[in-house]
Amino acid sequence: MNFQRSDFPKDFLFGVATSAYQIEGHAFGGAGPTHWDSFAATPGNVARAENGARGCDHYHRYEQDLDLVAAAGFDAYRFSTSWARVMPEGRGTVNQEGLDFYDRLTDAMLERGIKPCVTLYHWELPSQLSDLGGWRNRDIAGWFADFTEVIMGRIGDRMYSAAPINEPWCVSWLSHFLGHHAPGLRDIRATARAMHHVLLAHGRATEVMRGLGMSNLGAVFNMEWADPADDTDEARRTADVYDAYYNRFFLSGVFNKSYPDLALEGLEDHLPKGWHNDFDTISTPVDWCGINYYTRKLLAPNDGPWPHHHEVPGPLPKTQMEWEVFPEGLSNLLSRTAAEYTGDLPIFVTENGMANDDHLTDGAVPDSARIEYIEKHIAAVQKAIAEGVPLQGYYLWSLLDNYEWALGYEKRFGLVHVDFETMVRTPKASYYELKKALLAE
Ligand code: NOJ
Repeated sequence: MNFQRSDFPKDFLFGVATSAYQIEGHAFGGAGPTHWDSFAATPGNVARAENGARGCDHYHRYEQDLDLVAAAGFDAYRFSTSWARVMPEGRGTVNQEGLDFYDRLTDAMLERGIKPCVTLYHWELPSQLSDLGGWRNRDIAGWFADFTEVIMGRIGDRMYSAAPINEPWCVSWLSHFLGHHAPGLRDIRATARAMHHVLLAHGRATEVMRGLGMSNLGAVFNMEWADPADDTDEARRTADVYDAYYNRFFLSGVFNKSYPDLALEGLEDHLPKGWHNDFDTISTPVDWCGINYYTRKLLAPNDGPWPHHHEVPGPLPKTQMEWEVFPEGLSNLLSRTAAEYTGDLPIFVTENGMANDDHLTDGAVPDSARIEYIEKHIAAVQKAIAEGVPLQGYYLWSLLDNYEWALGYEKRFGLVHVDFETMVRTPKASYYELKKALLAE
């Protein structure tokens, strides 16, 4: 790697991230059904109709997995809690086995000197709540607040940091407008409602956690840099619209108590009644802002309904996801977020990494493309720090190869290779390189 720990400010955190449904094995331990199980069971939604029933069997192998986190010298582990594991029907009955699991997991982190950084919701909505309209139903803010009370009532006392919801754009737009994720809707009214309710739920959960005495509470946004596909005013405007509903909508809700005009031009008619009155809850103070960054998009105008644009494939080298490698987007977004939204508030890169077509040969996984990707993005992080962005940590996605949602188990994002037949874990070259950088004196 082109860096070592001493190149960073003293308390800068290096971490690694995962999520519950992608690794735990949802079939184990009494978890209830989720909208991802039925989405995956419907032909055409998920590659090979794979689901998270086995995941990486982390439910049984978490100690071994946390040993890997500790051995590489990571300071922090970003994990998520499964709502349906804790409350199988989403409301009411609590599954003690589920609470016990997160309790053991937390203690196992602390025993290894790893800081537990929890995300409460990373996409597997309990089916019974989905039946009631899921993120389209305003009541979800209250259901989520109740879940927050139950799960953080048990492990909140030991969390280093907490964020209610992973990637509001994916929960809403990707899942209700593009239909690529559960519940697979393609409807602008559903989308606008989900966008607003996800922020309302974020605010309610944050208030609950404050009430429990927790601190170091944040919000995690996914961001993409948006570039026009060509040098015309129309294309430039189209990239601004993408930026508005993808990046700025959620930042603006939480930090500015408003939604951007360029997003409202298409969404206002579909937002739930009285949305203006929810900003006090949505903008309840947070202690840090998390940014998940992978790529940029190129946008070109078209004659379709709002947002009147489509994505165009770009010319840059691509990862296994077909995502362009564009580290400048990360430094740009970090600087802009601090300058326009968060000021002195600490920022964390809560996810960054790449999928690669990795192969295990003679016990080794030589993922040089991932090493290069990480080096370039670390350089972008250093650039942002040099420009004065109050950046306090960087988390790799992901510890393990895992269930990449609609793309199943084929896309490998891990620093550690997983054989999904035997569940054997093999650290890749990138893991060893990071370990050297993090443990270097
Ligand atoms: C963001 C999500 O948080 C995570 O679940 C996903 O696997 C990665 N991006 C890669 O697509």
